[in-house]
Amino acid sequence: MIERTLSIIKPDAVERNLIGQIINIFEKNNIVIRAIKRVKLNKKDAENFYSVHKDRPFFNDLCQYMSSSDVVVMVLEGENAVLKNRELMGATNPKDAAKGTIRNLFALSLDKNSVHGSDSKENANIEIKFFFKDLAN
Ligand code: CMP
Repeated sequence: MIERTLSIIKPDAVERNLIGQIINIFEKNNIVIRAIKRVKLNKKDAENFYSVHKDRPFFNDLCQYMSSSDVVVMVLEGENAVLKNRELMGATNPKDAAKGTIRNLFALSLDKNSVHGSDSKENANIEIKFFFKDLAN
């Protein structure tokens, strides 16, 4: 089924000029970049976006980091895009990420893990609406 999901290229990857290399991985895997923008989140934006994690001990550091410099937000579209994006990203902690995945290739640490991707179709809709009002599934 053709789906849409939200992807964020995080500050560590934007700062290292990896936007093109990351998009290339998506495109080589038949994912279409349906929408894209480079934005600087403020702390409140990051807190709202990551509100599912609000009770986790890493919440404050995560929101601080995600609002520290520019990120690139994208709507990815393709066959089973939610799951496919998660496979292409690799595990959250780069130490556990499979060879050739985005996080294996580029991530620096659990926090500076280069990309975010929606973890379910339901969350994809919520996350897409956050940045691109008209494009939810
Ligand atoms: P992301 O997919 O953006 O979702 C939440 C982020 O929190 C996650 O990637 C990690 O970068 C960050 N994070 C920091 N500590 C943890 C942790 N212990 N477990 C999960 N995510 C964490």
